[in-house]
Amino acid sequence: MLVNVLIFGRWFWSICRKTSTIIACYINAKCLKNNAMKEYLGMTLNEFIIRRQSDFKYATGELSRLLSHIGVAAKIVNREVNKAGLVDILGEVGTVNTQGEAQQKLDVYADSQFIHALRASGEVCGMASEEDDNIVTFDNVLANDGKYIVCIDPLDGSSNIDVNVSIGTIFSIYRRISERGHKAEEKDFLQEGLKQVAGGYVIYGSSTMLVYTTGRGVNGFTLDPSIGEFCLSHADIRTPESGAIYSINEGYYLKFEDAIKKYIKYTQEVDKQTKRPYKARYIGSLVADFHRNLLKGGIYIYPATADAPNGKLRLLYEANPLAFVVEQAGGMAINGKDRILDMKPQDLHQRTPLIIGSTNMVNKVMEFIENK
Ligand code: AHG
Ligand code: MN
Ligand code: MN
Repeated sequence: MLVNVLIFGRWFWSICRKTSTIIACYINAKCLKNNAMKEYLGMTLNEFIIRRQSDFKYATGELSRLLSHIGVAAKIVNREVNKAGLVDILGEVGTVNTQGEAQQKLDVYADSQFIHALRASGEVCGMASEEDDNIVTFDNVLANDGKYIVCIDPLDGSSNIDVNVSIGTIFSIYRRISERGHKAEEKDFLQEGLKQVAGGYVIYGSSTMLVYTTGRGVNGFTLDPSIGEFCLSHADIRTPESGAIYSINEGYYLKFEDAIKKYIKYTQEVDKQTKRPYKARYIGSLVADFHRNLLKGGIYIYPATADAPNGKLRLLYEANPLAFVVEQAGGMAINGKDRILDMKPQDLHQRTPLIIGSTNMVNKVMEFIENK
């Protein structure tokens, strides 16, 4: 009996030691990561990109330079956004984009800034933009040798420009699949979101921030206007698993399918454990709604409606980059059936329903859809 107790005691002790070692290693790794990230805090975007270049597979510096170029273009757009009320740049141009939406002057300005910056960069052979019907190829010797293509929504939330509400830029970078040395081709842009090498956004809000991922976590940089540099302010962003915010245009309630209507009712019920009723927050600038929910925990839904079966948001330059960011931060993005990043694009300006945010909340919507 005593022998058995001793054997059991030794076995139990060794299990405890192993478990505590595993837990200690895990905590250590976490701390090391946090400390390493702390070391980067305050660092400028350029310095951070250079230090983290080894994060990119087969890095030769092009992607680092490209991200820096996007940062520079964002600063120029930011300058114009900030003085928008002072100059004759507000309002509509009088033209419509490929989707029949009125183009705002700043939409067109931002589009041309990004075209200019990316063409001059030499790393990019072409760009697809919300504001341009077809792909823009940078057909010169330097650009044709570029490894990358960019999909971009140069100004997101443009109906908010004239009223001083946060707007943004959303971007996505892919390695081209066509042969280098030639013009970019449409197939370079029609790749699944999971093939992105980088994705992110800039928010022109109460402060201006650039948030991006290259598949190794998400980092956020705040523009310090006194030195004109983006500085690391939000290292290794993780989105909460659950939140208490829901963002959806409830004005379209009657046009939603039953599952979404039922989910909206669910968000409004009282339940302490799940922090319901949730708070309703909808700015109407995807970037701003997404950014708030990413940091605080929440869900953003732009579903299919009776008259828009694919919703409103665009797969290539709205859904995919934000899906990449949210997944890297520990959240989820789906179209109501499938993961956004698995969708095979058929068209440059393809639309998709979007359900994006904290994992438990996205899964809950999925439950409603599956049980309809
Ligand atoms: P954009 O300004 O780039 O065309 O995008 C507008 C989008 C998005 O930012 C926002 O979440 C959504 O449109 C709002 O649409 P509704 O007005 O239909 O809610
Ligand atoms: Mn947009
Ligand atoms: Mn836009």
